[in-house]
Amino acid sequence: MDRSKSIALLNASVADELQAVHQYMYFHFHLDDQGFGPLSLLFKRTAIEEMMHIEKLADRILFLKGEVEVKAAGPVEKITEPVAMLKKAMLMEDGSQTDYNKAAIDCANNADAVTKQVFELLTADEERHFDQYEKQLEKIEKYGPSYLALQAFNTVAEPGAGAAKA
Ligand SMILES: [Fe+2]
Ligand SMILES: [Fe+2]
Repeated sequence: MDRSKSIALLNASVADELQAVHQYMYFHFHLDDQGFGPLSLLFKRTAIEEMMHIEKLADRILFLKGEVEVKAAGPVEKITEPVAMLKKAMLMEDGSQTDYNKAAIDCANNADAVTKQVFELLTADEERHFDQYEKQLEKIEKYGPSYLALQAFNTVAEPGAGAAKA
């Protein structure tokens, strides 16, 4: 096993995950500001899951005696419209699935079964993230723009929902 190959793959993924955390938190802030509570929360929860992915990747990098590079792969795109946010998020999740599937194969070829497993676990999560965004987009397409407004109404209708912001 060439450790440096695995470490490079892991660090590239840390950069992608950091970018996802930044992008999803940006979406979270703007959706919250627009009053779309449930979709805002979905992005926040997913950002937290991406942060936990970074933790898994970093653990493995340190185990392999590498250095964790804490640098996002790219800047945040200033998208503030919910449908455009979901489409961007689906593209990101799709890209991650492709990259992690490929990384798992590269790790198998490098005789690093444990790093391969890390990438396989992450791939399954990214598939689920893609699916959750796709479901939201399908609902908006099915019910129209009022879908998000009705979700927002539900949030406001909950007693004390405004005060106990998650
Ligand atoms: Fe992730
Ligand atoms: Fe994801």
